[in-house]
Amino acid sequence: MASLLCAVPRTTGSLYSILSSPFFKKPTRKLKPFFSTSIPQPNRKCSNGVAVSIAEEREIARSPQLVASEYAELNLSDKFSEEPAPVPDWCDIYSDSTLPLMVDIGSGSGRFLMWLAKRNLDSMNYLGLEIRQKLVKRANYWANELALNNIHFIFANATVSFKQLVSTYPGPLTLVSILCPDPHFKKKYHKRRVVQQPLVESIVDSLIPGGRVFVQSDVLEVALDMRNKFDTISDELLHVDKINPSLLDNEGWLLSNPMGIRTEREIHAEFEGAKIYRRVYQKRK
Ligand SMILES: C[S@@+](CC[C@H](N)C(=O)[O-])C[C@H]1O[C@@H](n2cnc3c(N)ncnc32)[C@H](O)[C@@H]1O
Repeated sequence: MASLLCAVPRTTGSLYSILSSPFFKKPTRKLKPFFSTSIPQPNRKCSNGVAVSIAEEREIARSPQLVASEYAELNLSDKFSEEPAPVPDWCDIYSDSTLPLMVDIGSGSGRFLMWLAKRNLDSMNYLGLEIRQKLVKRANYWANELALNNIHFIFANATVSFKQLVSTYPGPLTLVSILCPDPHFKKKYHKRRVVQQPLVESIVDSLIPGGRVFVQSDVLEVALDMRNKFDTISDELLHVDKINPSLLDNEGWLLSNPMGIRTEREIHAEFEGAKIYRRVYQKRK
């Protein structure tokens, strides 16, 4: 499955301490069926003596209110910068700015992208776009400490800055990821979701033919919203089931993580027993 997105050679050297191990997951490993009804679940006793299965506990733990409050803890300000981020001198940032580029929109801590950068030192460049400045500063500090010359993070509102930033990059844009974006549950705030039609169109315009988009969420409603938006441009984008139908479950979601590396939100959600809804699209050649 990993080869779907890029050849990701396994690292052989010792791991850096700040890239802690939970972020690595073998590419071929399938998601655990936490809610399988065919497997008996161990029970625990509540204080009132009623037996509650661990699966039920997890379901309770994944209540919409809790998921909403977890995302709310990100303390996102209601007003994002509408100013376009300054375009950097790409030659100053990457040791080879002609390499294929992957952009992660809403890169959070940046650890996910750093794992990839470390695995593909000489073959790919990585760019994280993140609206929280402290995370950007810390991620660039880590990248510097790790002496990674193929990764950079920019403090940017992707909605405003994506197109201009990637259009100035000298090499080809081969992969864009949007992983567990903020759900903005209330209908009146859906317009704050990062995946809006103009951004979708900018991504598709900017990718090279054969380039890919990887989206995922632990919130079904958000995953469906992203899916609908990318599905509507099927004249330009092909979902990977057209290439290999066996990669999907019955509802059209990928069976496993195609990168072999998980994001922080993904690890947390899977730990709680959530399903991660994933789609991968390819720009038609
Ligand atoms: C829920 S976190 C997920 C982070 C990471 N992708 C993960 O899966 O762990 C969503 C991230 O997107 C960032 N974000 C939200 N809107 C954004 C925007 N318009 N442009 C760039 N980043 C954005 C948030 O600051 C936050 O770090």
